[in-house]
Amino acid sequence: MPIAELLATGAYADYVNPQWVKLISLLEMNVSYERCEGVELFKADGGRILDFLSGYCVHNTGHNHPAIIEALKEELDRSGPVMLQSNVAELAGELAGRLCKLAGGGLSKVFFASSGSEGVETAIKFARAHTGRVGLLSCDRAFHGLTCGALSLTDGDYWRKGFGPLLPETAFVPFGDLAALDRQLSTRRYAAFFVEPIQAEGGIRVPEPGYLKNAQALCRRYGTLLVADEVQTGMFRTGPFLASHHFGITPDIVVLAKALSGGLVPVSAVLMLDEIHSSVFSSFKRSIVHASTFSENSLSMRAGLATLDVLEGESLGDRATEIGLELQQRLSETLNGYEMVKEVRGKGLLLGIEFTTPRRFALRAPFEAFAKIHPAMFGQILVMRLFRSGILTQICGNDFMVLKVAPPLVVTSAQVDEFISAVHEVVEVAHHPGAFWSEALGMARRAVAA
Ligand SMILES: Cc1ncc(COP(=O)(O)O)c(C=O)c1O
Repeated sequence: MPIAELLATGAYADYVNPQWVKLISLLEMNVSYERCEGVELFKADGGRILDFLSGYCVHNTGHNHPAIIEALKEELDRSGPVMLQSNVAELAGELAGRLCKLAGGGLSKVFFASSGSEGVETAIKFARAHTGRVGLLSCDRAFHGLTCGALSLTDGDYWRKGFGPLLPETAFVPFGDLAALDRQLSTRRYAAFFVEPIQAEGGIRVPEPGYLKNAQALCRRYGTLLVADEVQTGMFRTGPFLASHHFGITPDIVVLAKALSGGLVPVSAVLMLDEIHSSVFSSFKRSIVHASTFSENSLSMRAGLATLDVLEGESLGDRATEIGLELQQRLSETLNGYEMVKEVRGKGLLLGIEFTTPRRFALRAPFEAFAKIHPAMFGQILVMRLFRSGILTQICGNDFMVLKVAPPLVVTSAQVDEFISAVHEVVEVAHHPGAFWSEALGMARRAVAA
């Protein structure tokens, strides 16, 4: 390892997060990157990795898109007002207008924040203020962020344990279960129902047709706001601007973040109906009753505008639909017949490969042994092997048996070919007792020693 890399790793381990360094090293992913461009990550040792994770759906426009970088440079060179907090931020108005137009459905006001979680916190406050209710409902396996309010709506012991008490009067319903939703909503306790139109960390779960439309009708019937968390699914990731558009719903609030600023500057946006917005900003005395220092900062706003220019100018939504369909079909065909591959699913370029317990004893015995050591072990070996073959991906945070497939929307057919052949090779190896499983054993030993 080059000395600079060793030192950097050392400082990070000393001052930031030693456990992360251990984990990423264990997975053989602790490498230095010199340059990232589009879908490609160039390593210091001359190797190249194809990014099929996109920083969890941040890099829809590809890494370091030149047009977005240029816009940011121009904004810096302008020496204009940044975070003055005492002016009208014109760029925020321009970006909000474009977002509302793209989202449609009567969404006509935007609050800007800096992360997906902060967007979810905002939605919680606005929903409570508007309805005068306290309760908040979300779905099993949902991931809405890790700040205390957002965490209250995120499922999974791993994320929640030790951080309570979280917000009171929160509950989960099974994703896709309308009867359970009806039972909860009919209590009329809930200010909002938070839902990812396609669950991302939950395992790339696409709801049955009609689920979200019926969920919206139930929300209306019982006076609960429908909040679509489009932090991963928005910004053309699944084809249309919002995944909600696939399902014909018009949420009362939409949360966007991640890809909104081209993967270069933190930003999030909470789009909402006018009447919800005015429940909070109800008089000029309350004009800053909800605010955030970095909200509307001109670098984020400029990056957002430039990102929309790229997404629309390069028709990346259409591209996500077309190439996503091709990728999904070819993956399904290639992996068909492998007993551990249950399904390839998703929409646009938010896809997942679900794996399952093998039937053959020669595979099932080691599989079950490793699952006992850690339920993510199998998935992490897949991730590690793919990385060795030059592909970056990850398993879902709330379903370890699903491998996420989410490249930047600028991915080319040749890169898709490379990905498919790497996945094919790794899946083939996993279906033979031997190398794949002894690797897992080695990893387990190193994990215990770490
Ligand atoms: C659907 C969804 N909502 C909210 C969040 C939280 O976003 P952030 O990490 O920017 O706070 C995430 C993060 O992965 C997410 O996937």
